[in-house]
Amino acid sequence: MDKKQFQRIKLFKNFQSEEPRALPCSLQRTLSSFSIVLLTQVENGCFQAIARISDLVLDHSRLSSQFITNICTELAGTALQNLSLMNTLQGSLTNMTFQGLDKTNITVLDLSYNTMSKIADGAFQWFPRLESLSLEHNSLRHLTKDTFSGLGNLRQLNLQKALIKSHTSSLPVIEDFSFHHLVQLEHLCMENTAFREITEHIFSGLLHLKTLDLSWSITGLKTVTNKTFASLQESPLLETLNLTAMGINKLGPGAFSMLGNLTTLLLGRNFINQQLKGDEFEGLTSIKEIDMSINQQSISLTNASFIHVPTLRTLKLGRALKGSLDMEQSPFRPLVNLTVLDLSNNNIANINAGMLTGLYRLKVLKMQHNNLARLWKTANPGGPVFFLKDAHKLTLLDLDYNGLDEIPLDALRGLSNLHELSLRGNLLNQLHSSVFDDLQSLKYLHLQKNLITSVQHATFGVPLSNLTELSMDRNPFDCTCESILWFSEWLNSTNASVPGFPQSYICNTPNAYFNRSVMNFDPLSCKDMTPFKALYILSSTAVLMLLFTAFLVHFQGWRIQFFWSIMVNRMLGSLKDESVAEGRYVFDAYIIHTAKDRPWVDRSLLPLEDEKFIFFLEDRDAIPGFSQLDTIIENMGKSRKIIFVITEMLLKDPWCRQFKVHHALHQVMEKNRDSLILIFLQDVTDYNLNRSLHLRRGMLKPCCILYWPLHRERIPAFHQKLRSALASTNNLN
Ligand SMILES: *[C@@H]1O[C@H](CO)[C@@H](O)[C@H](O)[C@H]1NC(C)=O
Ligand SMILES: *[C@@H]1O[C@H](CO)[C@@H](O)[C@H](O)[C@H]1NC(C)=O
Ligand SMILES: *[C@@H]1O[C@H](CO)[C@@H](O)[C@H](O)[C@H]1NC(C)=O
Ligand SMILES: *[C@@H]1O[C@H](CO)[C@@H](O)[C@H](O)[C@H]1NC(C)=O
Ligand SMILES: *[C@@H]1O[C@H](CO)[C@@H](O)[C@H](O)[C@H]1NC(C)=O
Ligand SMILES: *[C@@H]1O[C@H](CO)[C@@H](O)[C@H](O)[C@H]1NC(C)=O
Ligand SMILES: *[C@@H]1O[C@H](CO)[C@@H](O)[C@H](O)[C@H]1NC(C)=O
Ligand SMILES: *[C@@H]1O[C@H](CO)[C@@H](O)[C@H](O)[C@H]1NC(C)=O
Repeated sequence: MDKKQFQRIKLFKNFQSEEPRALPCSLQRTLSSFSIVLLTQVENGCFQAIARISDLVLDHSRLSSQFITNICTELAGTALQNLSLMNTLQGSLTNMTFQGLDKTNITVLDLSYNTMSKIADGAFQWFPRLESLSLEHNSLRHLTKDTFSGLGNLRQLNLQKALIKSHTSSLPVIEDFSFHHLVQLEHLCMENTAFREITEHIFSGLLHLKTLDLSWSITGLKTVTNKTFASLQESPLLETLNLTAMGINKLGPGAFSMLGNLTTLLLGRNFINQQLKGDEFEGLTSIKEIDMSINQQSISLTNASFIHVPTLRTLKLGRALKGSLDMEQSPFRPLVNLTVLDLSNNNIANINAGMLTGLYRLKVLKMQHNNLARLWKTANPGGPVFFLKDAHKLTLLDLDYNGLDEIPLDALRGLSNLHELSLRGNLLNQLHSSVFDDLQSLKYLHLQKNLITSVQHATFGVPLSNLTELSMDRNPFDCTCESILWFSEWLNSTNASVPGFPQSYICNTPNAYFNRSVMNFDPLSCKDMTPFKALYILSSTAVLMLLFTAFLVHFQGWRIQFFWSIMVNRMLGSLKDESVAEGRYVFDAYIIHTAKDRPWVDRSLLPLEDEKFIFFLEDRDAIPGFSQLDTIIENMGKSRKIIFVITEMLLKDPWCRQFKVHHALHQVMEKNRDSLILIFLQDVTDYNLNRSLHLRRGMLKPCCILYWPLHRERIPAFHQKLRSALASTNNLN
């Protein structure tokens, strides 16, 4: 083997009976691919030949402490950087164990998964260059102010589960100043450790600390006062303090006031039960994130709660809040730079439209598992509450499980940056057709477990246009052409991922598709509808036309009939020469009137005979001896026009009604003559006129209908109209 290339040895001891069980997968792989060497003793100078070795991994071997001491002595002078002694059954470390390693450049030491209960003071004095030390998963009982002496270059210390409380023993102790040698330490992980208490100087001397993780540790801490973390005053660079699941139930005023450079404060999974007045966060002048999720829903807010932390970007209050957020001034109002707000799992039912006022940078809003249904109901007193109206930068909106059965038309207006909208587990059914129209940027849409029956282009065209992922499974789809055709075609052609399709996209109605996948919907069945549609349109048009005709005939039939017969006669008679016919008239007009109106006729019509007109008056011009019937027939035939002098009396005159009028109309129709002139002496309704004389004003040219004027001065005008009526041609035009 080339010595220069041999820089890493892995030596494992394999006890067939002791298969490693709870080891990380990566180790399992390493284990299975390397041959096993049983090490019990080390010979002098055994590493001389491979002095350039950088990594030595002795994990999962049973190594005696004497062996460790020996091998460390032998490693002196090598180029070793990483030494891993994970799970090597070391019970304790003395101040001589690692002697010899001071003559190496070792930077990484892994002592995890041993059962160490004791580390003697000065045990690490041989590691002046060590940067990373892991003591994860041991059973240490006591850390003193000299346990870590000599580790002045350490950057990272992992004490996860390094100190544990057994059933029988009391809590381990970490003395004041235990970490004061670690002046370069940046990351201290004490997750899941158990120690008696956080004393006044416990973290003193950690001058370069950036991250302190105390999550899930058992320390008996109940109230965080302004003294609790006073020792961190000496760590001006501290950025992250993780106090998750520490059993904290109260934050005192100024609890974190000494942490001016802290950016992340994690307080989730505690039992904090108080009203936040604002002074709890005083002094956190650089804070970016506060997480108070999962705090038994026992924190209540005031409008001053966040008044000292205007730099906040992320605020997580999921399953943390009680009481109302419906305040005149929102508690979030000071958080001008807030981008993430988590209010999920709080049963919030009352908020007002001003809750997000001023949060112009808000990008993520999580409000799932609340009770917001009422706010978006049309029937809400005062109308729907548009609480998103200011959040135009929103990219993620989560409103799962809120009992929403309505989305008001303008609830999602202006959310043109929204990437992800989640509405699963609500009761949404009918959605306004343009409710999603502003969501042009949508990439993820979650609508599963609602009551959506129909997915139509009008509603979903915009949000589905450029989607990356759609989840709309477990809705009771109505698989009819109208409801689902567009969606089934979209599903068939989209590039978006649709998890659960097709097996979870099931039709509920109609019966033919019940319990079958939307994928089985046959789009061709809709295409076949086209002729039926045409037929439908045709037949409904026909019915409408018929109705129209029926009404027309009912109300205007007489007019049609009249003009029809006129037209027929005209066509039949068009062969006759009109001028010949004109010549045979003896009279200009045959005047029909009642005896009572004779004086009016004498006075008002006969004077026209002095001009050039010749009238026929029955009682004046009839030749005695002829029957009245013959007289009428003959003389009407000889008259160019027939004048009716209409009064109520005339309408009652049986002769007039039964014969004269019939004959006159006969003349009009048979001979194609528009020869009637009506002179009204009294006002007679069209109805009476029609009933008695079978005449309507509409049958005649307007110029042939004259009214006897009441004013004397208009009589000449009447005569003039009469003259032109008499002179008008008989042709129907
Ligand atoms: C180791 O500890 C013992 C006492 O426990 C002390 O006498 C001795 O000087 C220490 N050795 C070193 C090298 O620190
Ligand atoms: C802690 O708070 C008390 C009053 O609650 C105050 O008297 C004291 O000065 C504060 N200490 C520090 C270090 O702020
Ligand atoms: C914050 O850190 C800077 C160095 O980055 C330091 O000068 C300053 O004093 C620290 N501020 C606080 C309040 O600790
Ligand atoms: C908000 O962010 C802007 C830009 O990042 C910054 O200039 C401003 O100081 C911040 N305001 C607060 C109160 O932190
Ligand atoms: C669709 O989304 C892609 C990124 O996922 C983007 O590049 C593209 O411009 C979008 N198209 C439209 C029409 O919005
Ligand atoms: C899906 O598309 C294919 C070809 O593009 C077509 O043959 C098939 O009928 C379509 N299925 C549905 C349900 O639209
Ligand atoms: C799907 O992707 C292909 C190729 O990437 C593209 O040609 C097609 O237009 C896309 N279809 C849709 C509906 O976006
Ligand atoms: C629906 O179909 C599945 C199998 O596809 C069947 O297991 C289930 O019982 C059916 N449900 C009803 C209500 O018919």
